[in-house]
Amino acid sequence: MIPHALNILIETERLTLQPLKPGDAHALLAIFSNTQVMKYWNTPPWTSLNDAIDFINQSEADMRDQQSLTLGIYLKDTGQLLGKCLLFSYSQQSRRAEIGFGLGHEYWGNGYITEAGRALIDYSFTTLGLRRIEAEIDPDNAGSAKALEKLGFVREGLLRQRWEINGVVSDSALYGLLAQGWCEGTSA
Ligand SMILES: CC(C)(COP(=O)(O)OP(=O)(O)OC[C@H]1O[C@@H](n2cnc3c(N)ncnc32)[C@H](O)[C@@H]1OP(=O)(O)O)[C@@H](O)C(=O)NCCC(=O)NCCS
Repeated sequence: MIPHALNILIETERLTLQPLKPGDAHALLAIFSNTQVMKYWNTPPWTSLNDAIDFINQSEADMRDQQSLTLGIYLKDTGQLLGKCLLFSYSQQSRRAEIGFGLGHEYWGNGYITEAGRALIDYSFTTLGLRRIEAEIDPDNAGSAKALEKLGFVREGLLRQRWEINGVVSDSALYGLLAQGWCEGTSA
């Protein structure tokens, strides 16, 4: 189980990362109903407010059970929800988890995921004591690949034909980042 506090709040220069609230449903739907944002996701774009409400409720339940850690990414100045980042597939014994992120299309290219990602990785290694963080992406997802590499992740392999979604088969690129190196200040 991921041993985080329920009232977690991570601050960066421009952003705060904190658990999603019921009032975020409309903003969350606007982000994840966008086909560009969902192009490489393993689920289709959201279509109704219930998709967002269900996601927020499930995230809260999973956080309470310490199964995963899902945080909204908010602009500090305005409180605007920009997207979300999460840790999941946690292995306590091996001290590893998987990371994921998604940002509203209009917010891409401002360095927000670099900033949010660094903060979540730092929290994962220094506070949660993780030893390794993994990310699995579609090899065609150039934006995510670049963002991960900028965060210090190394592409470690290609998992062939890993997914089949609506009859479309796709590969997965697996990325890894170690605490060793990051905590010595050499990764970021
Ligand atoms: C991937 C994603 C999170 C990147 O967020 P972002 O805030 O735009 O990323 P940043 O601005 O921090 O950029 C990080 C680096 O990636 C590069 N980059 C971002 N999007 C890119 C794209 N589409 N193509 C090529 N490079 C891209 C940036 O130029 C930057 O590198 P640089 O500083 O050398 O110029 C965002 O595009 C997104 O939400 N995509 C859809 C969701 C998704 O596919 N998530 C991955 C599944 S885990």
